[in-house]
Amino acid sequence: MEVIIQDTPEDCARIGASIIASTLRRKAHAVLGLATGSTPLVLYREMIRLHAAGELDFSMATSFNLDEYIGLAPDHPCSYRYFMEENLFKHINIRPERTHVPDGNAVDVDAACKAYELSIRSVGGIDIQVLGIGTDGHIAFNEPVSSLGSRTRIKTLHEDTREDNARFFDSMDEVPTHCITMGVGTIMECRQLLLFAFGKAKAEIIARAVEGPITAMVPASALQLHQDVKIILDTAAARKLEHGDYFRHVYENKPEWQRH
Ligand code: GLP
Repeated sequence: MEVIIQDTPEDCARIGASIIASTLRRKAHAVLGLATGSTPLVLYREMIRLHAAGELDFSMATSFNLDEYIGLAPDHPCSYRYFMEENLFKHINIRPERTHVPDGNAVDVDAACKAYELSIRSVGGIDIQVLGIGTDGHIAFNEPVSSLGSRTRIKTLHEDTREDNARFFDSMDEVPTHCITMGVGTIMECRQLLLFAFGKAKAEIIARAVEGPITAMVPASALQLHQDVKIILDTAAARKLEHGDYFRHVYENKPEWQRH
């Protein structure tokens, strides 16, 4: 794992967007894995800025999102499809038919989950996946004790996660109880992973995920087994890392050409 610590979320976003830009320059038809939540917003703003500046072209790209709430229509303001349209898709030139978000309104959810896995496979897999982390260590919506080999499936949301995400809804009662999420195993098959975390509320779980044991109790700790993962943190989210100084030293001494 490469741990990159920067002063601000904006600095982290610049690094993330530049990695995504070099992926798309190398492979115009790259498959992007995208995430929701407040963390990736700053990254999406930077990607939009690069696109407007003519430095990022999504015309051949495909995207797959990690997860979606069950029971919310795509045009519901709290659905992840709506989030993606508002915060990224409508501002860039990705073709709408090449953007994929699990269908939270599917009649046969199990079949929809299997079809999602198949469509990822049919385009050759995900080249680069953006991730955030929940305060309980979840990635996508893989709550603690999710199998580290899990695939796209229905999950029951933890009450803590529902409470964390209630800020996007008018009331706690409106927060869905279930979701469709890519599994930890699905995420581990992506060729490259970029996990972002900002703010002191994430410091404890980042230390457990990066420096603690690999355990289904902290699904993000599975990333320790991935061969190409960057953990991109602001100073506040990095402050509980025992080896923070070492991670900074490694990054600062990397040759420029190896940086992204
Ligand atoms: C949700 C999403 C996750 C995200 C997490 C953290 O649960 N399903 O993909 O990483 O929230 O959200 P935030 O970035 O708002 O802290």
